Amino acid sequence: MTGGINHQNGGFSIVVDKSIASVIHQHLVDGGYINNDYVIKDLGQHIAIPITNPGVIRKLDWFDEEKLQFETIILEPKKSTNTPAQEIVSKIEKLLVANSLIFTKEMVNFLPKKWELFSDLAIVPSDSLDSKEWQDLFSKNEALSEEIWQIIADSLKVSRIARQSEIANDKLRSSQVKMIVGDSGEVEFVDYGVKFWLDVTKVMFSSGNVTERHRIGSIDMTGEVVVDAFSGIGYYTLPMLVRSNAKHVYACELNPNSIDALTKGADLNAVSDRLTIIEGDNQITLKSLSRMADRVHLGILPSSENTWQLAIDCLKQSGGIIHIHMNVRENEISSFVDYCLKQLKQYAVHREFNVVELIHLEKVKWYAPHIRHIVIDVSVK
Ligand SMILES: C[S@@+](CC[C@H](N)C(=O)[O-])C[C@H]1O[C@@H](n2cnc3c(N)ncnc32)[C@H](O)[C@@H]1O
Repeated sequence: MTGGINHQNGGFSIVVDKSIASVIHQHLVDGGYINNDYVIKDLGQHIAIPITNPGVIRKLDWFDEEKLQFETIILEPKKSTNTPAQEIVSKIEKLLVANSLIFTKEMVNFLPKKWELFSDLAIVPSDSLDSKEWQDLFSKNEALSEEIWQIIADSLKVSRIARQSEIANDKLRSSQVKMIVGDSGEVEFVDYGVKFWLDVTKVMFSSGNVTERHRIGSIDMTGEVVVDAFSGIGYYTLPMLVRSNAKHVYACELNPNSIDALTKGADLNAVSDRLTIIEGDNQITLKSLSRMADRVHLGILPSSENTWQLAIDCLKQSGGIIHIHMNVRENEISSFVDYCLKQLKQYAVHREFNVVELIHLEKVKWYAPHIRHIVIDVSVK
């Protein structure tokens, strides 16, 4: 073999007899000379090791011209084993270095490390690319901002990106999400066999409640009339119609954008004929559903307490089940359950129900340190 330095497929290689390959490989690893973009190639008696800097390697004391050569070998690029978050960092680093720009640790801290995916749209956290250093850079170079957002979209394999903001602290749980790549925030997706539709720029979707959505969707509600007092876009209404087979769901909702989404979701699942949407404040609208329901769902946080009595009034004379969502401190869960049952018993008296009992306690998720989002299922007869 003749010596020579070659550059194929963007990588140099050093060809080594297999009998000494592990020793040489270790020298290369120790010195940091391995080119990790390519795969080592088996040549029979020899192997080709991808390397970064032949000029330097040639001068090292272990380098032996007789036994080691640099060869023209076409090397196979390594399949990326990077996570999308690592890919974002490395691609943006390459772009900035190519533009002679500095990539600081603080800038890395403001790249997205988690996101929510809705088919081809990803929602990234509110602080993504939102720091002084990134803003200073983009104010001087607007095109760079577009290029970087496109790198993020490509790494997440989506065509649209939206950036999260705090959910509006209003009754409507309005979304503050802003589109960054792409214009429309409308998404359609399937979860546990149920189709959902929403515009992420208008309403929020609590993906953290997934286990509870699936649990509710696994309860057999055949023949039941259900009242969903805080339906939103149908997080629970649609699973109850599609999976639980409820006979009819009355969905109470204030927010016209959520009602629009629920209407579209019901159409997509072909369950509109078993759904009545009641627009308005449920403090008023629940009164029109008095004595109609086998089941009432109270899916609001931090507390649904102001609807407990209305929920009892919605139950049929034969009684039924109430699902109560609540944020509760971990060490106060059992006293909360006692308190809730005591209150419901008081409200139940005028309906002449004499059994109010807990049939299930579900710990849905941690809402904040020490605070759990829980759901209790209460049977009232
Ligand atoms: C948290 S969201 C729905 C959440 C869904 N149940 C979940 O846990 O993912 C609560 C919904 O209740 C609606 N809402 C809040 N107060 C209401 C009221 N007084 N009457 C009717 N709807 C109300 C909001 O507009 C919002 O869509």
